[in-house]
Amino acid sequence: MTILNLPAWRRRTAHAWGVAGSVFAGSAGALALAASATAAAVKLPEPSATEPPEPAWQAVRAAGAELAAQLARHCPLAAPGDSTAFDACRRALFDNAPLRGRLNEVVLWGRQRNASLALKDTGLTQFAPDVLAGMYLPLFMFNGEHRVQWVGAEGLFQIRLATAFRNRLSPGQFPYPFWHEDDKWATYQNASELLLWWDPSAGIVKVAQFTTHGGRAPLQAVRWQAAPSFDGRWMWTDTNGRTQPKVSLFDGLYRNDNPYLPRLEASYKALALRLRESQCDQCHVPDNPDKSKRLVLLQTPAHAAGEIRRLLDAVREDRMPRDQTGIEAPLDAPLKRALLEQGDAFATLLDAARGWEQQRRDATQSAASTQR
Ligand code: HEC
Repeated sequence: MTILNLPAWRRRTAHAWGVAGSVFAGSAGALALAASATAAAVKLPEPSATEPPEPAWQAVRAAGAELAAQLARHCPLAAPGDSTAFDACRRALFDNAPLRGRLNEVVLWGRQRNASLALKDTGLTQFAPDVLAGMYLPLFMFNGEHRVQWVGAEGLFQIRLATAFRNRLSPGQFPYPFWHEDDKWATYQNASELLLWWDPSAGIVKVAQFTTHGGRAPLQAVRWQAAPSFDGRWMWTDTNGRTQPKVSLFDGLYRNDNPYLPRLEASYKALALRLRESQCDQCHVPDNPDKSKRLVLLQTPAHAAGEIRRLLDAVREDRMPRDQTGIEAPLDAPLKRALLEQGDAFATLLDAARGWEQQRRDATQSAASTQR
């Protein structure tokens, strides 16, 4: 197993991806913008001084036990660079209806920088369940150890799962270069617990965090991996001419013979150019130049796929893009039309790709039941 494959990583082609040069290169020069509006997408409860009644405890304990068992079964401890274990975990979680059923339609995700910082003041990223289950949760390993606690200040339960992070995968197996920020990469590497914040009134996980602040060590000793250098590119082309990060191209999530995959990638590239012309990459990239507390990511096919419906609605209704003061700044008509057309084309291909996967799953299942 290559250890972050540093030489190849440095040798990756400089001109990279997309007709007009790099798509969504880092916005190092972007202005630091005023703090933006708080999220509307995920409604968090009010603080609550009283503990929830016993049935709520029973529900969260049952959910915690079920989630911990599933994660331990599909994503057990392995060497931190073991691709086979990682792929098996990813595929199992992505396809995993019970897990996704436990996740809110938008889940907030991010590191816990400070255990006493309120969630409302914590910068988090908004993810569709597929994105979290297919690209982020699989980066962690589990052994089933967990505990449940009530956090009255948030009005939420915490399901705390013991974990360790796969810090020795190759760069294209991470959804984007987490090492663009030293502290982010360090927190990922040293994570010892995964926190699933459970809303008792909705019976669902609304926030997920990874933390080093649990007072325990990671499930296995961390062989520290220094952060490779980051050149500002969220996507790049490797020395074999392949687009990276490959996990963000549905690699291993959809079947390799899914006939829509190549067109999906091409369609995203075309969409990405429109997004850039529309200034979306001024804000919707991992380094979060707009300092949004509820960041939305659009910089890879898989990230954009998770948001495509909201993206189309937001543009159609002129809610996006915004200007640097956070006020709607509608696109001119031709650009808006081109962006919507390309977005629709990407959404249609996605539906086709997902439909094909579903058919294959159904066919495999019915073949299995005929044999029985
Ligand atoms: C100046 C910064 C900025 C720019 C430029 C920008 N956005 Fe946003 N966008 C935000 C912020 C901030 C939010 C979070 C809003 C919230 O949830 O409070 C957001 C939210 C979103 C959302 C999810 C929430 C929703 O409204 O449904 C989508 C989708 C989105 N933006 C798409 C786009 C697209 C597409 C573009 C380009 C056409 C764009 N944005 C340009 C700042 C920006």
